[in-house]
Amino acid sequence: MDWQSRPRCDETPAWRALGAHAAAHFSGPQAFDLRQAFAQDPARPWHLAVQGPHVYADLSRALIDAPARALLLRLAEECGLAAHRDAMLAGQHVNVSEDRPALHPLMRWPAESPHPLEDLRQIQRQSASELSNMLSFAEQVRAQGRFDDVVHIGIGGSDLGPRLALQALAPDILPDAPRVHFVANMDGHELAGVLGRLRSATRTLFVLASKSFGTAETLRNAQSARDWFLAQGGPPQALAEHFVALTARPDLARALGAGRCFTFPEGVGGRLSLWSVIGLPVALAVGSAGFRALLAGAHAMDQHFAQAPLSANLPVQLGLLDVWYRNFLHFPSRCVVPYHHGLRRLPAYLQQLEMESNGKRVDARGRAVPFDTAPVIWGEEGSGAQHAFFQLLHQGTRVVPVEFVAVRRAAHDLPEHQARLLANALAQARALMLGHADENPQRCFPGNRPSIFLLMDRLTPASLGALIALHEHRMFTSGSLWGLNSFDQWGVELGKRHSLAIEQALNQGDCSGLDPATAHLLALLTQPPPQDDPR
Ligand code: F6P
Repeated sequence: MDWQSRPRCDETPAWRALGAHAAAHFSGPQAFDLRQAFAQDPARPWHLAVQGPHVYADLSRALIDAPARALLLRLAEECGLAAHRDAMLAGQHVNVSEDRPALHPLMRWPAESPHPLEDLRQIQRQSASELSNMLSFAEQVRAQGRFDDVVHIGIGGSDLGPRLALQALAPDILPDAPRVHFVANMDGHELAGVLGRLRSATRTLFVLASKSFGTAETLRNAQSARDWFLAQGGPPQALAEHFVALTARPDLARALGAGRCFTFPEGVGGRLSLWSVIGLPVALAVGSAGFRALLAGAHAMDQHFAQAPLSANLPVQLGLLDVWYRNFLHFPSRCVVPYHHGLRRLPAYLQQLEMESNGKRVDARGRAVPFDTAPVIWGEEGSGAQHAFFQLLHQGTRVVPVEFVAVRRAAHDLPEHQARLLANALAQARALMLGHADENPQRCFPGNRPSIFLLMDRLTPASLGALIALHEHRMFTSGSLWGLNSFDQWGVELGKRHSLAIEQALNQGDCSGLDPATAHLLALLTQPPPQDDPR
């Protein structure tokens, strides 16, 4: 099937059959119940297990039955998912609104093996050489011991991936690595806090990470960092040595005074750019070998996504479950709970990945979609989350599917902690599913609340790479079925435009032309502080 003329999910017979199946078996008094499903099929965990590279998924506690799974596979076939996936992996312009390919899988193609597609070979060679320059630079920085601190300035995709990876790989950080700090927000408290912790300006490297080099937050932070460097006595002729850029627009970076620029292609989406030179802070911390292992793990997931049959394809199976939950069981959100401290930023990372990619109400052809798309992704690390929002998950009025992410072997030496932590995760899933009957309604748990487990043996650069790539392809799968272009993000533009006008009004103290609600708050925010203010 030609990927450009594939039908959208709601135009297929499988979509209608899924609707009928959900109405007949997943609502009303006879609705599917996990407790009965396990009673009828105790081997359910084996039937609903999917193994991908480095990640094992136990979907047995998902609210789904065999006919629904079969219909979802049919849906994927009728929607031409495989053709769309192949087009994406072949570098075709699947990002139709920007007329660009989605090149993130190419960034992790092994440097030593030329890409089989002639069209991609040239870009691969170029990107591999940029990456190897970036890795050599990272090695050099560590070997020379020239910098105590590295400040990575970037936002969104230029921040979330490196931040997550550095936390996840904390045990792999090399002893001679400089301290890495992150600054993302326009809020000066963040930058001021980091600057206050630096040992000295002359021993600090600033990394300006921005694909577009046009992002207001990053440019403001970069300018303030530069001012600070000079104010601390940093010599102006040393600016180029202390400021490097990671970008697809080296022309703009150089115009702003960055010294070395490491580049990546425009076809790599910001939220999918960890694998490119944007990973410099990760390479600085864990070394080239660690960074290459991260890429290798992601590449293994790419190969699995490209080759495994759809029925045993982990990203596809998760993407199909997402469509089932969103469009047929109508769950508005998904809660991600990593039971590993290193993965505490995973929910934030997945929020951008899923909600910026698939949080859309028109399809790739510009037609309004008559069904729901991306769910709200939220979550927090376990086991703290149990003492915060698990009450709602167990006894709240709405069902929220929970996604546990667990790692079998810990990197620390406290076995009692690991056993307890994993027991907590299993206990929560069990309680959600089994519920509890009690005469006192306050103590009643309805049960039949769904969850899935994503399990890894250890959290390593390779398994982290595979876990993130898994979510990228899962997002692609649901977006593909929904007929969306998952690679653009027009929805973030309007707020940016408004903020320019409001900043101008704020600076000039002139609210004319603003709507009354904005003008009201602006007036409050620009009022002089009261005379008796002790500050
Ligand atoms: O706000 C949207 C966005 O464009 C994201 O997609 C991107 O990750 C982020 O801004 C940062 O963009 P850039 O890397 O171009 O500074």
